[in-house]
Amino acid sequence: MSEIRKPILEVLNGKKPEKVPFWLMRQAGRYLPEYRELRAKAGGFLDLVYDPEAAAEVTIQPLRRYGMDAAILFSDILVVPHALGQTVTFETGEGPRLEPLKSEKDFTRLDLSRVDAHCKPVYETVALVREKMRQEKFDTATLIGFCGSPWTVICYMIEGRGSKDFSSARTWAQNDPESFQKLVDIVTEASCLYLAGQIKAGAEVIQLFDSWSGLLEDDQFKRWVIAPTKKICDYLHKNFPNVPVIGFPRGAGKLAFDYAQETGVNCVGLDQGADNQWAADNLQSIIPVQGNLDPELLLAGGDALKQGLEKIHATFNGRPWIFNLGHGVIKETSPDSVSLLSQTVRGWKA
Ligand code: CP3
Repeated sequence: MSEIRKPILEVLNGKKPEKVPFWLMRQAGRYLPEYRELRAKAGGFLDLVYDPEAAAEVTIQPLRRYGMDAAILFSDILVVPHALGQTVTFETGEGPRLEPLKSEKDFTRLDLSRVDAHCKPVYETVALVREKMRQEKFDTATLIGFCGSPWTVICYMIEGRGSKDFSSARTWAQNDPESFQKLVDIVTEASCLYLAGQIKAGAEVIQLFDSWSGLLEDDQFKRWVIAPTKKICDYLHKNFPNVPVIGFPRGAGKLAFDYAQETGVNCVGLDQGADNQWAADNLQSIIPVQGNLDPELLLAGGDALKQGLEKIHATFNGRPWIFNLGHGVIKETSPDSVSLLSQTVRGWKA
């Protein structure tokens, strides 16, 4: 029996794949009519997340259409605060709402001992997705598990909702680093439990989403982004040495270099704001990179999309690279644009 090659694992393990592997952040979601249909049946967003059969189905949907090289578990980064006991709801059309943490005394609401039991349906989803991938012969695709990085998750835990600048979280981190550190430690430990559960159920790669790392500079970035990310990577590499970690420090700019060198991630995800020539020269020489087409170009489609793809291909091809977007698929994107993208990427030689 010939060995099955999984291109994403090949890149992450330093081998040269035959083709440029690709997947898309938020590849499962509202731009797909089949997602909207299942979502309507499930009721709320969290009902879908905690329904293993439905969540597994949603995870596989984009692979059936486009044959990506990875499926990403359908879940959310806010499952971790929810598992710790914080109230989390999603209002349709408004995004997440959490009962915000105001001071250290609110940490008593958070209970690490309930994380694994709470997350059991998510672990079941992972196992079901692997099973479906086998049945449907997605043999070369990799299953990616994920969580948010502590800094990004805590932004929502303190602010209680989305924000452009998460000023309450930043102020707390600046003014009372001791209590902030306690919160970081709790979320870091919960994240390790959550990721271990996903890996034991069958996740083959982990992505850490640090969507708001770009709000922090220098010392704050080192303390609240690099240090907890390193803790999670150390834990994963020690306990699951065959599971590579992709870190996505969105908006980090040139701090992505320190992140790549100091955290222990196996690959750095780039957002569309990155200086790509700098990243090719300075990052790709030390570590595989992932990214970074502007999701707005995917939304635009046509020639704008084709030109954007060619530019990225010219910059990153030939060195370790997983093609992706620079952030998630925008919900108004046409499924036809995603077809054009996948056909173009499949036409590339590695
Ligand atoms: O396909 C995939 O990428 C896997 C599933 C996934 C979701 N969220 C599903 C989702 C992943 C990896 C995430 C990560 C996530 N969630 C992040 C990090 C990445 C990023 O986008 O920066 C963040 C910050 C969140 C928190 C979150 N979840 C917000 C702010 C929102 C509301 C905004 C929105 O797009 O509606 C969500 C909801 C959410 N998570 C949806 C999906 C498909 C939309 C919910 C719906 O169907 O109504």
